[in-house]
Amino acid sequence: MRLLAISGSLRRSSYNRALLDAVAAESGPDIEVVFWNELERIPAYNEDAEVQQPESVAALKDEIARADAVLFATPEYNGSIPGALKNALDWISRPFAENPLRDKPVAVIGASQGAFGALWAQAELRKILRTIGASVDDNELAVANAQDAFAPVGILRDPRQRAALTSIVEALSYRTRRRAA
Ligand code: FNR
Repeated sequence: MRLLAISGSLRRSSYNRALLDAVAAESGPDIEVVFWNELERIPAYNEDAEVQQPESVAALKDEIARADAVLFATPEYNGSIPGALKNALDWISRPFAENPLRDKPVAVIGASQGAFGALWAQAELRKILRTIGASVDDNELAVANAQDAFAPVGILRDPRQRAALTSIVEALSYRTRRRAA
């Protein structure tokens, strides 16, 4: 499975990026984790610009189309997802009929330095992804107190969280195989 990993954080030392690193560390050889790190390059959405789509947007759409599944790791900003991530999703969603997230198996995980692990943001992101037409997994992983959650090498300390991560990726892989059959 080619798994596209998208973090909603632009921060260099992002815990959500670390969470996606942990996915790569936990995944077997049949999972190719491809990181997309160009969120900062996506301009503000403007319907007038849709006819001549920005190159960064076209490249992102292309990556999604090439992926078998997409895994999002989102921070929570003021009870919701970061604006930069929502902006990218608005671009991806247009035009709706041919947007590359349509029917794509996707899952959402998240980390925050608070006590709830970006749960609200994850719920909002699932709602947005469903609105866009993606095939959204309900499994969730909320990494709370993210500043204490990782070993220095970018691996989750808690074996239950590592197991949850593995089962989320396996569920995506299973759905991907079923789609291909
Ligand atoms: C936050 N943070 C935060 N955390 C949370 O659990 N609920 C929230 O509503 C918010 N709101 C919020 C707003 C803004 C503008 C910032 C910058 C931060 C804290 C946030 O979860 C924390 O900084 C994470 O570490 C951000 O994720 P990355 O960058 O580490 O991936």
